[in-house]
Amino acid sequence: MSDRLVIENLQVSYGSGAQRVEAVAPMSLAVPAGQKLGIVGESGSGKSTLLKAVLGLIRPPGVVRADGIWLDGTDLRSLSRREFRARCGSEIAMIFQDPVNALNPAFSIRDQFRRSFRLHQPDLPRSRYTETMLRALASVSIDARDKLGRYPFEFSQGQLQRIMIALACSSPRLKVLLADEPTSSLDVTTQAQVLDLLHALQAELGFSLIIVTHNLPVVAELCDRALVMCRGEVVEDTDVISLFEQPTHDYTRHLLASMASLPRIASGAAS
Ligand SMILES: Nc1ncnc2c1ncn2[C@@H]1O[C@H](COP(=O)(O)OP(=O)(O)O)[C@@H](O)[C@H]1O
Ligand SMILES: [Mg+2]
Repeated sequence: MSDRLVIENLQVSYGSGAQRVEAVAPMSLAVPAGQKLGIVGESGSGKSTLLKAVLGLIRPPGVVRADGIWLDGTDLRSLSRREFRARCGSEIAMIFQDPVNALNPAFSIRDQFRRSFRLHQPDLPRSRYTETMLRALASVSIDARDKLGRYPFEFSQGQLQRIMIALACSSPRLKVLLADEPTSSLDVTTQAQVLDLLHALQAELGFSLIIVTHNLPVVAELCDRALVMCRGEVVEDTDVISLFEQPTHDYTRHLLASMASLPRIASGAAS
């Protein structure tokens, strides 16, 4: 299996001097095609920073150092701004925790898709925009024939997260999908539906999935590999079965013990 995403010696810090926080300590990672990687760790352990650094979304005072961040053999950091924008969103995309803030409130759903198509699928003829939007929305179970003109505030949180997923997955060239706690702003039933959806889309489209979650049962049911982060360090990188059966790091054991006392929030989510 070839590696879709390769990260070599990535390090991210915020601030300087006594205020300096090493949000991600030097780490390397290779994610093969079609792999479903779950990243867990307590709040502040650097999970979001890691995903944002891959997409070049770290702003000052953040400082990113890396020997390379390769997508299918191309170092994203070597691309011009224009080339980078063309690939991000079409070959690698991200969905965020809060879909309300991730979508522009002043744009209708049609406009959000149009903007995404113009940026990320320049070869798609305008005459095929509506058909492509409707197909993408149907794949996340939204019948949008009379809804394309609506604005984000006219949808529920769960619908908005589905729309975000439809936007992210609408590119036929999608290779890697990054998902940062995509269900934590949703109610329990909707969480399970959105996880089911991600599972089904991944199986159909075959992209590599990197999902950050607080929920270990989600990792168990959705992922085949797990990365555990603690204070910016990757303390465990293992297949999911070993994570649960033979955790090697004290922090992972602590995490598993604390999760064992919680209800299975997304029970059956990815069955
Ligand atoms: N924009 C920022 N400015 C300063 N520090 C930040 C910023 N974003 C994140 N951090 C710090 O980086 C560390 C990792 O944060 P984050 O990646 O958001 O963690 P997680 O997603 O695991 O909760 C935390 O100590 C956090 O306070
Ligand atoms: Mg986070």
